[in-house]
Amino acid sequence: MDNEERPIVILGIESSCDDTSAAIIKDGVILSNIVAGQKVHEEYGGVVPELASRAHQQNIIPVVDQAIKKAGVSQSEVSAIAFTRGPGLLGSLLVGTSFAKGFSLSAGVPLIEVNHLQGHVLALFIQENNEPFNPPSFPFLCLLVSGGNSQIILVEDYLKMKVIGQTIDDAAGEAFDKCAKVMGLPYPGGPYIDKFAKEGDPLKFEFSRPRIPGLDYSFSGLKTNFLYFLRDNLKENPQFIEENKTDLCASLQHTINDILMSKLKRAVKETGIKEVTIAGGVSANSGLRGRLQDDAKKYSWNLIIPKFEYTMDNAAMIAITGYYKYLNKEFTGQDVVPFARTQL
Ligand code: KG4
Repeated sequence: MDNEERPIVILGIESSCDDTSAAIIKDGVILSNIVAGQKVHEEYGGVVPELASRAHQQNIIPVVDQAIKKAGVSQSEVSAIAFTRGPGLLGSLLVGTSFAKGFSLSAGVPLIEVNHLQGHVLALFIQENNEPFNPPSFPFLCLLVSGGNSQIILVEDYLKMKVIGQTIDDAAGEAFDKCAKVMGLPYPGGPYIDKFAKEGDPLKFEFSRPRIPGLDYSFSGLKTNFLYFLRDNLKENPQFIEENKTDLCASLQHTINDILMSKLKRAVKETGIKEVTIAGGVSANSGLRGRLQDDAKKYSWNLIIPKFEYTMDNAAMIAITGYYKYLNKEFTGQDVVPFARTQL
């Protein structure tokens, strides 16, 4: 069989924050996606960079091994290795980058660098064996909301995307996590806020909303407002958080989602694009998903929500991006270094 007829098998590696992940994608179809989380950060209420890179060092070999075994491919079938170059924590990125360079050299396969944010968007194109495949059509808008980013991206093609709005300070996930922390909830707090919000009144408390022009976001004012609101009320009633937990969570979540949705609606209006998608860890939020579905119905958007497991940090999204870069012959040299901060 000549090279042209061989299937394209991409090994993807993700290590930008606190998840070590490896995945295999064959001709665009996912065969495995292994994610090892890091419990070590829980007691600190946030990711500790040095501990994250040490845990990546321990996890990377077993995670890649499992991904290859689960996919049922041999190492010699791998066509290329794709890895997250950034943005992320430098020490964590270095582990994945070094592993990918070593694998590329020893297996004699091309190296492909992937922007983590581009990966989150292209997660929408991961195909599953024997499952319906309904990717968005170009051009589309993607609301990318995670622990480190809040952006509205205009996607013109697989590898052609433009950020048209982004946070000027904190990300939406950070607002969820930091507000959860001041309420004494475990890290990461987003899923806990989501859980308690289901039982609470979203209109019970009013929190501040930013006045930022255009399509940009800001969440730091809300975070400070929430902190001072709790501090003032705790002075009057030390049980304030416990007694109002569900209403606090519901009102906070309602405010964050209002902020996210108002700019997304504006982006649809300004661009005229009604193909709308969502990506990143915060897209797991049930309130946000509900708001998106309501607005999609109201304004006739074609809304595409990715499978839950591909919204969080994972290597399947890196492998699928690697697949499109491979088709485009976009390879990287061994002199590549990770970037803590990169734009799309
Ligand atoms: O994309 P992701 O896995 O990685 C980072 O960017 O770090 O996103 C993690 C973020 C965290 O801030 C977490 O609290 C948030 O996603 N998150 C949620 C929910 N599930 C995860 N936020 C709100 N509601 C959720 N259900």
